[in-house]
Amino acid sequence: MSHINGKTIVITGASGGIGEQAALQLARAGAKLCLVARREDELQRVQQMIQQEGGQAWIYPVDLTDKVALDACADRILAEHERIDVLVNNAARSIRRAIQDALDRMHDYERTMQINYFSAVHLTLRLLPRFLEQKSGQVVNISTMSTQVPIPLFSAYLASKSALESFSRSLSIELGDQGVAVSTVYFPMVRTPMSSKTAIYKHMRMMNIEEAAGWIVSAIVKQSARVSSPLGVVSSVVLTALPDFVIKSTRPFFRRMDKKLAKKLKS
Ligand SMILES: NC(=O)c1ccc[n+]([C@@H]2O[C@H](COP(=O)([O-])OP(=O)(O)OC[C@H]3O[C@@H](n4cnc5c(N)ncnc54)[C@H](OP(=O)(O)O)[C@@H]3O)[C@@H](O)[C@H]2O)c1
Repeated sequence: MSHINGKTIVITGASGGIGEQAALQLARAGAKLCLVARREDELQRVQQMIQQEGGQAWIYPVDLTDKVALDACADRILAEHERIDVLVNNAARSIRRAIQDALDRMHDYERTMQINYFSAVHLTLRLLPRFLEQKSGQVVNISTMSTQVPIPLFSAYLASKSALESFSRSLSIELGDQGVAVSTVYFPMVRTPMSSKTAIYKHMRMMNIEEAAGWIVSAIVKQSARVSSPLGVVSSVVLTALPDFVIKSTRPFFRRMDKKLAKKLKS
């Protein structure tokens, strides 16, 4: 793939899940990968897989919620790579909890904002001068289809992803004409360690990890502002136009779905 071959791509959350798979697909297309996440042994495993297939990868073990450590990691990446073409802000955590069960859990909201929003913004701000100097670069922010429809039980997670989407739009409107491309990827449910934490989702139909990783590859190849399912696009348009109707009509659907999935899990 000529759009990817030879590019240096920084991807966070590359030690597992969609990030690992995207790193493998991008390396196969000829990209040089900077793999970022906390677990060094898992990063080494992904690096070795890439190298065994003839690709190039460097690892940067870091807790992205630690601002000092993130700065040191950004310094290393900038020093070790003359050119950086793409940053994929993929690392995240999700919390599934009703707002009523989170009345004394303000930390749910702080923790999701810290990794899903602040660390993505922080790393973007650190790499942005290089993109501007090069007069080219791309930021790919990973979001979720669940911000395109009203979904219950994920208030902390979804608010952090919505903040990231809003940042993407600001980045694009301010710097799009200076060579900085910005893409937001709205994944539906994908079978990964993150979604597997919710037991009742065991029997839910989900996208497989290879297809999801392909969406990140496609965001880089096409440099499109949005990678989304058609359902996500239609839902976001209808939600914007008719918020009362959409929220009232989907509420019973989600209650029924949760009951059905819980029943399936028990049987
Ligand atoms: N799975 C889904 O159904 C789904 C749906 C919509 C959107 N998404 C989005 O897709 C992206 C990938 O999700 P996934 O399902 O692949 O998740 P995952 O399997 O849980 O992987 C999350 C990745 O983020 C890294 N990470 C977490 N906290 C970190 C921290 N503090 N510092 C550095 N790295 C950290 C983890 O590595 P370490 O533990 O090694 O740090 C791991 O590599 C996320 O942005 C998620 O919100 C997923």
